[in-house]
Amino acid sequence: MTAVISLGGSFLFDKTDETYKIFKELKNIDSKFVVITGGGPIAREYIDFGKAFKLGEKELHQVGIKCTHLNAFVIAKSFNTDYTDKDPRKLKMKNKILVTGGYLPGWTTDTCSAYAAVSTKSKVIFNLSKEKGVYDKDPRKFKDVKLLKKIDFNRLYGLTKGKRIPGMNFIFDPLAAKICMKNKIDVIVTNDIKDIDRYLKNQEIQGTIITCKK
Ligand code: UTP
Repeated sequence: MTAVISLGGSFLFDKTDETYKIFKELKNIDSKFVVITGGGPIAREYIDFGKAFKLGEKELHQVGIKCTHLNAFVIAKSFNTDYTDKDPRKLKMKNKILVTGGYLPGWTTDTCSAYAAVSTKSKVIFNLSKEKGVYDKDPRKFKDVKLLKKIDFNRLYGLTKGKRIPGMNFIFDPLAAKICMKNKIDVIVTNDIKDIDRYLKNQEIQGTIITCKK
């Protein structure tokens, strides 16, 4: 069995200690893992840097992709895992952990995670983020927010708005959500690394399950 872990760029940079712990824990879990690293603050900064030099939209996305791979490279070297910059739709697992980043201009690493889940026949994506999970309202704007334990992909579409522009932030990219819905892949949004083991052992998790299952 293979599971996908999407390490949001902001999680990576804010929680370096937690990220370090994840790789120690993965060794003890009986599953293979594709780990996809986001770009985070360096991607946003570099995209702004590219804008200052009048790069076009495609090139700005390419700058973002390079940042995701810079992060993937650091992680892969640190933990001595396999690394690839190849198409996530065609991944083949050789060893326990494979680390990668973005791929096509205009996608996000959420989309790469969804395609990686399809190509490795994974039924779950652990989306590690700064937030505890998905809330009914934007926690950066409202105080009276409620954490959702389980949410349907269709409802998530109702919560996320806007068009994809370079560096933009989503709960979970709508294109990625569509791929997950079509292939019946659950997405776990959490900031608790123990949720990986909990979910794989059918235990209750602390974050949110985005699902199309009843
Ligand atoms: P991320 O996937 O990190 O986007 O890629 P994000 O939404 O900012 O996620 P967090 O904040 O890290 O969790 C950063 C940027 O790189 C480009 C996009 O411009 C994206 O906004 N990118 C990434 C692509 O064009 N294609 C990809 O496959 C991946």
